[in-house]
Amino acid sequence: MNAKANFGTSSRLSGKVAVVSGAGTYGGEGIGNGAATAILLAREGARVVLVDLVEEWADATKSLIQNEGGLAMSIAADVTKAEQCKEVVDFAVREFNTIDILHNNVGGGSGSGNVVEATQDIWANSMSVNLMSIINMSRYSIPYMRGNSGGSIINVSSVTGMRPKSGRSSAPYTMNKTAVVGLTRAMALDHAGESIRVNCIMPGLIWTPRVSSGSPDSRPTRQSSTPLPNEGESWDIGWAAVYLASDQAKFVTGIVIPVDGGFLLTSTPN
Ligand SMILES: NC(=O)c1ccc[n+]([C@@H]2O[C@H](COP(=O)([O-])OP(=O)(O)OC[C@H]3O[C@@H](n4cnc5c(N)ncnc54)[C@H](O)[C@@H]3O)[C@@H](O)[C@H]2O)c1
Repeated sequence: MNAKANFGTSSRLSGKVAVVSGAGTYGGEGIGNGAATAILLAREGARVVLVDLVEEWADATKSLIQNEGGLAMSIAADVTKAEQCKEVVDFAVREFNTIDILHNNVGGGSGSGNVVEATQDIWANSMSVNLMSIINMSRYSIPYMRGNSGGSIINVSSVTGMRPKSGRSSAPYTMNKTAVVGLTRAMALDHAGESIRVNCIMPGLIWTPRVSSGSPDSRPTRQSSTPLPNEGESWDIGWAAVYLASDQAKFVTGIVIPVDGGFLLTSTPN
């Protein structure tokens, strides 16, 4: 693990309970966006529920947190399935009494092709992974946040939602990541009166194990497409989430934070 992640620890989230979807790391090695976020939330004092399709990957994040003295529980679930989301929320409340923070990290899926090529199944899968995962988890978590007089929901989009990939069509993924922004704004307004804040993080080109295993040769292009010289890493996404989850963002709702090294300011390939 990158030692840089250790800087700036404090207790901004002590007493809070966070649920993170996709909190494992693809392939179990390295660190994915959800895992890094879960670790930083725990370092800031939150008790964290780690949700992943693959139990061992969630357990690996749990071990990292517990080895640092943090509190975490893991559960295997598919957050595209409403009934499994309900089970996750019930589990979180049973273990930690409530939910204050919901980090909807799961996204991606098979969203490639243009409208001529992409099949009905690809459209349905992309919507399920990128949107229904957020909707299902939020639906069951919000009643507990109401009971706490508030909460923070963070939805993960992508720069692709603002700038479709050049040369490799991914219309379903692009549409759904754009829709994450619309959904965030609608949720923010719908639940503002209940002090539930809803915000969105828009990652740029982050070198996660999922990306490196899917397109190992893309690293130089990804690096040169980003204005800042340092490469985006999962910790960068995690720090944005820590801010949005914390009371330091208590007057912040309905916003989109690109964490992209300036990528959206350019027209370089992605
Ligand atoms: N890596 C990037 O460059 C990048 C760029 C833009 C946006 N994002 C977004 O960041 C998020 C995380 O991406 P990542 O690259 O860290 O890795 P990732 O998408 O592999 O996610 C990590 C974990 O999510 C789990 N997961 C997948 N589907 C699930 C489901 N239905 N239910 C429960 N768990 C599930 C996986 O098992 C894996 O452990 C996604 O929303 C992705 O679209 C990533």
